[in-house]
Amino acid sequence: MKQKSISELMNLGGKTAIVTGGAMGIGLGIVSRLAEAGANVLIADLDEKEGEKSADGKRVKFLKTDVSKEEDVKKMVEVAVKEFGGLDIVVNNAGIYPQKHVSEMTKEDFDKVMSVNLRSVFLCTREASKQMISQGRGGKIINITSIDALHPSMIGLAHYDASKHGVWGFTKNSALELAEHKIWVNAIAPGGIATPGVAKMSPAGASMEKFLAAFLAKIPMRRIGEPDDIGKVALFLASDLSSYMTGSQIVVDGGVLLS
Ligand SMILES: NC(=O)c1ccc[n+]([C@@H]2O[C@H](COP(=O)([O-])OP(=O)(O)OC[C@H]3O[C@@H](n4cnc5c(N)ncnc54)[C@H](O)[C@@H]3O)[C@@H](O)[C@H]2O)c1
Repeated sequence: MKQKSISELMNLGGKTAIVTGGAMGIGLGIVSRLAEAGANVLIADLDEKEGEKSADGKRVKFLKTDVSKEEDVKKMVEVAVKEFGGLDIVVNNAGIYPQKHVSEMTKEDFDKVMSVNLRSVFLCTREASKQMISQGRGGKIINITSIDALHPSMIGLAHYDASKHGVWGFTKNSALELAEHKIWVNAIAPGGIATPGVAKMSPAGASMEKFLAAFLAKIPMRRIGEPDDIGKVALFLASDLSSYMTGSQIVVDGGVLLS
């Protein structure tokens, strides 16, 4: 059989993707590479202002969505199908990482992180996979976990780490279940990536540079990651370049887990 060329392998022309939390940060980095490879992309995000800015109204559209809400997620899949004619790729990226010590954490704090980071992955996978199964042409689901799905990065993220361990477990089991439908489910575990969400984490009064300096010292590559570092790996997982992968998690962290 003739081997596909690199450009054929990366070509997402005619495919439709949903990227949750795609209005900014890592999500936007992913939107930009999938769109460049030819995909139609629906950005599903809570932030209307940033979401509209990141869309072009043609191949990249925006839908205000709260991924923790069942009715919003159902609508998200319906809109992608209505606007673009089908669904082939879903990137479950939306997530929050508020810092709180366990001793001060309320039930509401814990439940909020679980619903946005973990329940959303279940809801989006259920709705997307139903659509993909009905189309009968397979699909790709990419879950954005974190190095915290493997090892804690800092104190104050116990609820977050529990949610990301959960997403990794959900990735493996759903990969096993959905394989018979040719729906491949993989995860990307980013390390420290410079995003608006991380910028907001710097303690009051401290600059992002100072906050990141402490983290930078732990990264063997001696640089903070960019959203495009994740966008490129998402393109790999969304495309035929990763034709023999399901149930895997790719760590993209500049080597930080080694330190
Ligand atoms: N930045 C990092 O260093 C890093 C490291 C590891 C993992 N991650 C993961 O990557 C993902 C993106 O992180 P980021 O740093 O780009 O965050 P960010 O805060 O910069 O952007 C997150 C986006 O998600 C949206 N969002 C939040 N809650 C939502 C909801 N309920 N429904 C829909 N959209 C919602 C926000 O509006 C925003 O556009 C998260 O899952 C995060 O846990 C980030």
